[in-house]
Amino acid sequence: MTEKMRITSGMRPTGKLHLGHYLGVIRNWANLQDNFDCNFFIADWHALTTKYNQTKEILASVKDVALDWLACGIDPDKTTIYVQSLVPQTAQLHIYLSMITPQNWVERDPTLKDLAKIMKDRQENMSNLSYGLFGYPVLMTADILTFNTHFVPVGIDQVAHVELSRDIARRFNNIYNTDFFIEPEPKLTETSHIKGLDGNKMGKSFNNDIKISDTAEVTEAKIKTGITDRNRIRKDDLGNPDNCEVIYDYWRIFGSNEDCDEISCACKCAKIGCFECKKRLANIINTKLAPIREKRLELEKNENLIHDILHSGSAKARTKAQVTLDGVTDKVSMYK
Ligand code: TRP
Repeated sequence: MTEKMRITSGMRPTGKLHLGHYLGVIRNWANLQDNFDCNFFIADWHALTTKYNQTKEILASVKDVALDWLACGIDPDKTTIYVQSLVPQTAQLHIYLSMITPQNWVERDPTLKDLAKIMKDRQENMSNLSYGLFGYPVLMTADILTFNTHFVPVGIDQVAHVELSRDIARRFNNIYNTDFFIEPEPKLTETSHIKGLDGNKMGKSFNNDIKISDTAEVTEAKIKTGITDRNRIRKDDLGNPDNCEVIYDYWRIFGSNEDCDEISCACKCAKIGCFECKKRLANIINTKLAPIREKRLELEKNENLIHDILHSGSAKARTKAQVTLDGVTDKVSMYK
C-alpha cells in the first residue's frame, strides 16, 4: 500500500464558526479525509499574535471550534485533530526556520500587511507590531513543515503564506544540501462564497453572520434581516432576483434548482413577498443544518469528550512531528 499524501491546515480560534467557514473550508476538509493523511489544528499561537491580551477568549474558542469541526464531520478516527500549542515540536522547528528566513522575505508577505492593518485598526502604532506577529508566516511555515506536508488546503487569502513556506523549504534544502523537505503546495479548494446578511463578506466582527451553532429560531430571525431587492418596497411591487443582494444568493447555495426557479418566478410576478420568501429559505437552511446542529448539541453534553479528543489528537501529532524534528536536527547537525 502506498502512503497517503499529507495535508495540513489550521484555523485560528476566534469564536464560534459561521456558514462561511462551513461552506468555504470545513466541508472541503471533511471531503479530503479519506484520501489523504490529514492534520487539522487549532492555531492558538497564531491567535496570540493579535489577541495576546484576550487569552480567555482564545481558550473558550478552542472548544467551540473543535465542536464545530466535529459536528461538521471532521473525524478524529481518520484525521489528526490537534491544538497547535500542545505540539511543541512546531515551536522548535520554528526556531530552525527562523534562522534561515531572510527578514525581507517576511516583510514582502502581503498578508502580513493585512495583519498589520488589524493592529492599526485597533489604534495601535505600527511600531507595536510584535516580533511574534511579524513572524506569523514563519510560524505558519513551521506548522506546514511539521508534517512535511504535500498540500495545504487554504482560501485564496492564505496562498501568499504557503508560497513563503515553499521558499523556506527550498532554502532549507539548499543550505543543508538535502531534499528533506517537500515543497508544500496550496490546494485551492472550490469555495462556495457566501455573503454576510448585509451583503459584505461574512465575518464574526461584522455582525452579519449565521453561526453553525445558531438555533433554528435565531437563524430565521437573522435571515429576516438579509438584504433583498432594494427597489422592492411593497409586496405588490414586482421583484427581481437579479437585484436581490443577499437572499437570492442564499437560495442558490441552499435550494435546489427547482426551488430557485420557483422562488424566482414567484418573486418576479409578486406572488410572494420578501417576508414569506425569507421564511421559506430559513426553513430550508435549518433543515440542511439540523443534523450538524443536533450532533453539536450531543457532543457538547459530554463534558470530557472534546478535551480527550484534542489531547489524543495532539499526542498523535507530537509523535509524527518528532520524526520531522529529528530529521531537521540531523540535517542541521545539532549536538546529540
Ligand atoms: N493563517 C491561517 C488563517 O488565518 C491559519 C493557519 C495557521 C494555517 N497556520 C496554518 C492555515 C497552516 C494553513 C496551514 O486562516
